[in-house]
Amino acid sequence: MLQDKITQYTEEINAFSTEKADELEQFRIKFLGTKGIIKDIFDEFKAVSPEEKRTLGKVLNEFKQLAEAKYQFLKENNVAEESVKVADADLTLPGEGFEIGARHPLALVRREIIEIFNKLGFVVAEGPEIEDDWHNFSALNFPEEHPARDMQDTFFIKKGGEKGDIALRTHTSSVQVRMMEAGQPPFRAIMPGRVYRNEAISARAHCFFHQVEGLYLDENVSFADLKQTLFYFVQELYGEGTKVRFRPSYFPFTEPSAEMDISCTICKGDGCNMCKYSGWVEILGCGMVDPNVLENCNIDSKKYSGFAFGMGIERIANLKFEIKDLRLFSENDVRFLKQYKTSLI
Ligand code: DAH
Repeated sequence: MLQDKITQYTEEINAFSTEKADELEQFRIKFLGTKGIIKDIFDEFKAVSPEEKRTLGKVLNEFKQLAEAKYQFLKENNVAEESVKVADADLTLPGEGFEIGARHPLALVRREIIEIFNKLGFVVAEGPEIEDDWHNFSALNFPEEHPARDMQDTFFIKKGGEKGDIALRTHTSSVQVRMMEAGQPPFRAIMPGRVYRNEAISARAHCFFHQVEGLYLDENVSFADLKQTLFYFVQELYGEGTKVRFRPSYFPFTEPSAEMDISCTICKGDGCNMCKYSGWVEILGCGMVDPNVLENCNIDSKKYSGFAFGMGIERIANLKFEIKDLRLFSENDVRFLKQYKTSLI
């Protein structure tokens, strides 16, 4: 009985052929599926007499192998048929092409800043985003009770440590300290990087943003050098004729300190929303490096002097591209990002 069935199905399998994937799948289910014919036959086989088992066992195994081999063969054969079809397609049709991505506007601005300072001989330096109190605050002459050390501004990670509490750096000025500790002047470097502050996210504030720090340290460096360097930078970045002005300010690590404004890049000084009708917009903080900072880093403040400056990359990008909402920079919305396509890769 069982032998007859096997003979009959063997004929069926041998005769079977298809090029269609769904028919092949039907075949698989019918013979090889969990409720398929082979499973049934093996179940029936359990009930046959011991003598029959001896002869039938081999036949049964061969039958199973035949079904599997047929299935495999047709499967591979079908794929081959598919690729023949692709080869037959009209190859003269235009290709689909692929879209080239865009540089992030902050990356574009950062690169432009680096290129401008490169021309003045500034190299690029980097430092860690996870900092200790010494590099982020103490070495930079922040008094113990300075509000910038407050929990409100700083993301603290760990209390205590060889060089004070561990925190996410709140500014790139920490890289200045690392640079000065690592050697002796002359130094001429810019230090781009990401910084973190404990701020609620809104259109005008974010818990992380980007800065570029600058440091120029040598013998006989004066405030005139600072002014000329930054003046040159602004002419290169926003075009000749951009005016600058310095307002006295305060930073613990510079003395004297200043903030630099430029004539509004949008209205050219006539007054608009961007400059709140003042004709000026602030772009950076700067000053002469405080002798205390030099001494903290084992640099002779009698022999060397220098200037430092720090600017927010988002702010510069904002003025260049008129991007008013800071959140756009970190949302990764492709519709926003792809506007800043550039030939530079
Ligand atoms: N670190 C300052 C900030 O985050 C920016 C700054 C101001 C950096 C003056 C400087 C500087 O190097 O001289 O607000």
